[in-house]
Formats: sequence, structure tokens, C-alpha cells
Amino acid sequence: MSRSILAFLVSALLCAAVPAAAQAPMQWQTGRAAAAIEARVERLIRQMTLEEKVGQLHLYGRREGFDYGEIRAGRIGNVMNFVDPAEVAAVQKAARESRLKIPLLIGLDAVHGVSTYFPLPLGQAATFNPALVEEAALWTGREARALGINWTFAPMVDMGRDPRWGRLLEGAGEDVFLSRIMAAARTRGYQAGGAAATVKHFVGYGAGEAGRDYNTAWIPAEQLHDIHLPPFRASIDAGALSVMAAFNSVNGVPATAHREMLTDLLRRNWGFRGLVVSDFGSIPELMAHGIAADEAEAARKALAAGIDIDMMGFVYSKHLAAEVRAGRAPIAQVDEAVRRVLRVKFHARMDEIADIDPRTAESALQSPPALDAARRAARESIILLENDGILPLDPARVRSVAVIGALSRPDQERVWTDPAGVPRKPIEAMDAALARLLGQGVRVAFQPGVSTYCGKEFGDRAAAIEAAAAADVIVAKLGEDCEFMGEGASRTRLTLPGVQDQLLDELIGTGKPVVLVLATGRPLVLSHLKGRVAAIVQTFHAGSEGRAAIAEVLTGAFNPSGKTPMSFPRSVGQIPVYYDHLPTGRPETPGRFRYESIFMDESNLPLYPFGFGLSYTRFGFSDLRIETPVVAAGGALTASVTVANLGGREGQEVAQLYIRQPMARISRPVRQLKGFQKIALKPGESRKVTFTVPATELGYHDAQGRYVVEPGRFEIHVGNSSLAELKGEFQLARPQGGR
Ligand code: GLC
Repeated sequence: MSRSILAFLVSALLCAAVPAAAQAPMQWQTGRAAAAIEARVERLIRQMTLEEKVGQLHLYGRREGFDYGEIRAGRIGNVMNFVDPAEVAAVQKAARESRLKIPLLIGLDAVHGVSTYFPLPLGQAATFNPALVEEAALWTGREARALGINWTFAPMVDMGRDPRWGRLLEGAGEDVFLSRIMAAARTRGYQAGGAAATVKHFVGYGAGEAGRDYNTAWIPAEQLHDIHLPPFRASIDAGALSVMAAFNSVNGVPATAHREMLTDLLRRNWGFRGLVVSDFGSIPELMAHGIAADEAEAARKALAAGIDIDMMGFVYSKHLAAEVRAGRAPIAQVDEAVRRVLRVKFHARMDEIADIDPRTAESALQSPPALDAARRAARESIILLENDGILPLDPARVRSVAVIGALSRPDQERVWTDPAGVPRKPIEAMDAALARLLGQGVRVAFQPGVSTYCGKEFGDRAAAIEAAAAADVIVAKLGEDCEFMGEGASRTRLTLPGVQDQLLDELIGTGKPVVLVLATGRPLVLSHLKGRVAAIVQTFHAGSEGRAAIAEVLTGAFNPSGKTPMSFPRSVGQIPVYYDHLPTGRPETPGRFRYESIFMDESNLPLYPFGFGLSYTRFGFSDLRIETPVVAAGGALTASVTVANLGGREGQEVAQLYIRQPMARISRPVRQLKGFQKIALKPGESRKVTFTVPATELGYHDAQGRYVVEPGRFEIHVGNSSLAELKGEFQLARPQGGR
């Protein structure tokens, strides 16, 4: 029986096994169900003591000596970081023993997997395959729910344009169109799987100056509304039940106390009905921000701004009841926050979820269909950046391969937002997968090269160089790991951490061709490697099945199709570098005249542009047709292009459509992605790809945050990266009777 049929059958059985309520996707109820929830919430508000109300606004993390009695007493209404089934069952039981039996929110950073883990979200974005990303989130939600977790702190949708920032890996990169689509896909997936989504970090966390974590963000209204807010709106429109506030300040106001964002925009303007949770301890941090003199004032300001739950800040639990009794915090604000928390719990039907059975909970983890989805996601997340022809490895030409790098082995990897303590069966190592795929005739040797998974010290250096020198081809799997990625991991040098660059130099020094496989949490600066290595394969930590998928790409069993979700800078000095920049008054010309907007010592172009990725075959784009040369106001652009597979291998290509409005009331980006389609073509096959772009997608926000669609001429570029060359244009007509 083929693996995919088996996977399907197991998946069907699994779905049957999952309790009904757990299987029902979490979503906002409507009609009578919604009305019944409102009535129930009001009844509970009337019954609750002030302490019980404050308990619902408190999120407490697992730790040694956790007091379950606090749940029974109604003083803890939400918990996080419980993954051991016995402990989860204990907190669920404690909630049932409380006076009002309100279900707990049981939260976890289930971001790119739980036991089965998928490529980092940045790698998932590189697939340009929203359906696959949604499936990855579905399995993440399912495995979380299997452990009794009903709330995930994901999707993170912060825009990432500065690779010095360590948390790019959690988002979808630099492009707002791609980020919106991935945000919605992940939200749907998590909630369909059984975990309420928390879209984060609201807002502007990725815009911290210099890419320094938690740093100040100054964001003009135009950029706030055009770039940073749309992915949040997409997640909320997809039904996200909660939002997490950001650590940073936005234009001088800490996001955790930003009433204009949290209440005026999010709730009044967008109509968001869910709850807002602070980030970890971000409420007391208002004192460090300098807008609260003490914890009590921090609690008051956060509550007034619209923060419903205090994540591990302990200021709501310590001060809110006293502040209400002293008349310094209105009980109406407490009640409104409690309403929003209870609404989420009951709309998500958390009160109908059966407690988990610790004896069987883990049996649902790493199921064949989940691992199958992880394999497919890993494959499509892999980006081929350079290839001098050495790939795919040909067993007829290559008789020996030296795999160098501790990251080739599963037990050597620690990636950010990888929930600790979740059981995981070992997964195939890359060298073993290579040996399996290359067959008996090819000898595959492995040497870690570095002593720890962070690449900070050499391992048996001589053995690594000796193995490399003895092989026909060296496959070096190097990258960022553990503390070099994620939160608190901003870097000013985008190099391979520790001794890895030195190790790579020595591998190159053997004179044997080096295939560099990267596992990083961000684009690194790779300029110095061009021409020195035979190939560069980029992964953003490809997950449980990543090593096997990489081996499939290296041997040609899978033709790579990943595309860069971010521009790769040539140097740190070039940052920020992103494709949808404004033209300036002195755009770079081929002559690079001194007095143009250029660097004296660097090109303006990134080393690898957004949307770029090589294949083992070659695709051609032709016959761009603008079906609607004049688009009516409120209408849509329809354009088509023919994509052909001109090479000898089947492969997938991502056809991308970019638009530009060269003339408008304000300066507009030189290009913006407004459509993409991923298609698989056999050798010699061609297909017509049609794009439809609503006129409403062609506008921008002005300085007052108002959305403007200006009639006029638009240019189109279509191709397989943000450097697309096939060009056309259309007119957007004025509204009837409009000026
Ligand atoms: C962290 C992160 C946030 C995460 C939370 C809980 O500080 O900023 O993304 O969800 O704490 O772990």
C-alpha cells in the first residue's frame, strides 16, 4: 500500500478517534448559539466574585510546585506550557472542581508543530503553498488538542524586513500580500485542528529599530496600515479568537497600553470580538517603558487600553481587585475583559471538550498522515539558491559523499518555539537518508565537525577534514541553532555562528566540491561564498522530516521549488533591503552615477531577491495577456501568462504577478506582489495561468490611515521572482462621475 494511501486511511481513522467537540473547528458561533453564549456570559458575570473575575484575567505558566488549588479557588482561569498529559488532566480536573467550573484556556507556543514539527513559518512561507501551510497548522492544532492544549500563541504575523532580528523565523517574511495569505491559512489550520489562534504581536514588533529585539518602532500611518496591520486583519477575518499585544512601543506608546490600537482600531474599527492577551510580562514592563510609576498603574493602564489577560506579569492578580475596590479601576473594564475571555471559551466550545486521558493522549502524536504532511512541507520549503551543476548528485559520477555538520542529525537540533518536553520519536538523519537514496554504490561518511549543536566549538576537526578530503563531494549542513535564533537573538553579523564559518573555509580548502545546506532562522550574508561552493541549499529548519526531504532534493528525488520569502542582503550595511521599496528621486541607473541613491561600495540589489529559487529544470514565461486593458472602478484586473517547463525534469514553479502604479498622489513602490500561483509541470508541458486582482487591491493608505484607490495607469510584471521581466500595463478607470 502506498504511503499516501496509508496516510489517508490513518488520517481518516484518527479523525474518527478524536472526540467530536475536539474535532469541531473553533469558530465564532452565530445566531441562537451566539445569543445563548451572551446570556450565559452575563449570568456568569453576575455570579462571579471580584476574585473570580480577576482569576479569568490571569495567565499562569507551569512551574515546579504549581498550586492546582489556585485553579479550584477560581484565582487562575488560564494556564500555559503544560504538555505532560498527566499534568494537563490535573489542571482540567481542578477547573471542574472550581465553584463555577469555567473551562481553562490551556495555552502553548504550538507554532510550527508540537510532536511532529514542520518547517519554521518562514520556511513554510517559502513553499508559496497556502494549502500546505494550512495543513501544517491543522496538524499542529490537532497534536496540541490531543495533549489537552486548546490555545496556541500563533500565528506570529509580524512583518520581517530586517534579518538582524531573530524572530523573522516565526513570520512569513517581507511581503505583505504573502503574509496576509499565510496568516489566514495558519489561523484556519490551528483552529480547525482544535487550538484557538492568537495572532501576534500586535503591532509593529518586526519594525524595531536596527532589528534589535523589543526595540522602539516608529511607523508612519501609511506603513502601519499598508504593511504591518494587514496580516493581522487577515488573521482576524479568518476567525482568530485572540490577539497578543507586542512588547515594543509604537510611535512612543507601548503596544501593551496602546488604546488607539487595542480598542479604537482592533475592536471599534475592525469589530474584533475576541480577547487580547499581553505578551510575557509585558504589563509590568510599562514601568520600564516609563509610562507607569508602579505595578498598580501598569495594571490600570493595560486594562484601560484593552488588555484582557495578563500573561505572567502577575500585576492583574496582585493589584486589580484592590484597584477596583479603591475606585481607581472601573469594575466595568474588568467585566468587559472577563466577557471577552468567557466569549472565547464558549464560542470555542471549550466547556464541551472532554478531559484528556493521560494513558492515550500521546498515541495521537507523530501519526503517519502528520509526518506525511511534514515531509511534503519540508520538501516544498527547500530553496535552491546556487547550483553549478553538481546537484542533483548522480550516483554514476559520485562514489563517495562526506556529510559534515552536527545539524545533519535530529538529536542535534534545537529550534525556537519548539515546545519543550513533548515526546518525539527519532527521525531519519540526513546522512542515512542520503545513503538510502544514493544506493549501495555510494559511500556516505558522517562527521559532526562541531561539538555542540550551536556550532560554537569544533568537534573532531581533523576527522571532519579528513573525511571531507577523502570524498568526491562534501555536503555541509551548517546553520543557526538554539540561542542563535528566535527571541532575544538579534545579531549584528549575519554569519554562521561560532566556528562554522571557519569549518566551512577548511572544507572548501580541501578542494573538493562543497554543497552547503543551511538551516537558519533568517537570511544570512552569503556573498563571500558565491563561486566558492558548488551549491547552496537554503532551509529555515525544515522540521521533523526535513533531513530526509533535503536528501530527496540533493539526490533529485524531489525537484526543489521553494522561493525566498525575504531578500538576502549582500551585507549587513545594505539592511534594510526589500523589493517593494519606493523609487526615490534618484533611482539607481546602470551607470551608477555617483549622485544617485546608491552605495559607493555595494549594489542596491540583494544577493538573492524576494520570490527567487532555482529548480533542476527550466521554466519559461511567455504570452502575457491583459484581458482587461481597462479595469472598471470596483472591477478586477484579469491577466494571463503561459508557463512552460523547458527542461527535462518535472518540477513546480511559482508564477508571480507584481503591479506598480508609476504615477499617484504619493510615491508608490516599484513593485508589489498581487498574485502568485504554484503549478507543477512535466517536461515539455505548458499551462496558461490566469491572475485576477480586484481593483480594491490596488490602493494604499494615506497619512490619516484612509484607504485610497487612485485611477490611472498601472504596470504589471510577471515571472518567477520579484525581478520578473515580462511586462504589461492596464488602466484603472475613474469611478462613474468621479473626479
Ligand atoms: C514570549 C513571546 C511570545 C510567546 C510568549 C509565550 O515572550 O514573545 O511570542 O508566545 O512569550 O511563550
